[in-house]
Amino acid sequence: MKNKLRSSRVVIIGTGAVGATTAYTLLLRERISELVLIDANKEKALGEALDMNHGLPFTGGVKLWAGDYSDCADADVIVIAAGASQRPGETRIDLLKRNAGIFDSIIQNIVKYNDHGIILVATNPVDILSYVTLKKSGFPSNRVIGSGTLLDSARFRYLIGQNKKINPRSIHAHIIGEHGDSELPLWSLANVAGIGLEFSDADREEIFNSTKNAAYEIINAKGATSYAIALALDRIIVSILQNEASVLNVSTLLTDYNGVSDVYLGVPSIVDRSGVREVLDLKLSNDELTQFHASANKLKSEIANLDL
Ligand code: 2OP
Repeated sequence: MKNKLRSSRVVIIGTGAVGATTAYTLLLRERISELVLIDANKEKALGEALDMNHGLPFTGGVKLWAGDYSDCADADVIVIAAGASQRPGETRIDLLKRNAGIFDSIIQNIVKYNDHGIILVATNPVDILSYVTLKKSGFPSNRVIGSGTLLDSARFRYLIGQNKKINPRSIHAHIIGEHGDSELPLWSLANVAGIGLEFSDADREEIFNSTKNAAYEIINAKGATSYAIALALDRIIVSILQNEASVLNVSTLLTDYNGVSDVYLGVPSIVDRSGVREVLDLKLSNDELTQFHASANKLKSEIANLDL
């Protein structure tokens, strides 16, 4: 077994493309001991659990079952991946009305059984729904985390790697802000081995546009995104459960962060067993600051219309 914790339970709520692929990723990586799948459509969760359990002879000893909210009682991490996903042409914000509606009962059901775990939100628009989760759960903000711009940063690193012909694991680069159309790239921090990377204006534009529009491209082509977000969620979960203190661009509550407060946005944060232990202080240029504030204001004006 690979570094598996003695007992670690992850519950995934919502077994659509993202939830099911995340479950499968966790199963293959074998770093947790119990995995519970919950879906409003019980048959779907049952089918996914059965299908994955049939793979256990080829993998390790993760105990996996289709459960219900009472299984949240012993959960260390609860992933929310339930809700509608974008149809071709829709933005993530277009999902807000539909998905905010189902969060009421999901959060109520979680907190009925669990007051100690970490809630990891993946449903879009992820930053706003993380904020909704914070407000409705009453959990402290370190224990309500959104997947944020971790996936966008991975896409960015992949594309920079392609451009520079360097393995993306060796590229350090960050996308911050909304997981969505107002996100921004931090070009000045992109580096390999601490050495800054140079790009032409045209390359910058192409790399950033491909990063920002990646989900639209994939949704047009195959209907949904799933693999890379599942790996990003696995990364966050393992950093929590193994108390790694890895720096990940998750969505977290900002308080006087570069002049931004009371909104969730993706920024580099230290993630350990306590959840978000610390948000790293980024020094933004004037240009970046303007874009970051625009991203925050966009989300705040959406939040202002919600009943929280
Ligand atoms: C993604 O970026 C759709 O938010 C999802 O893949």
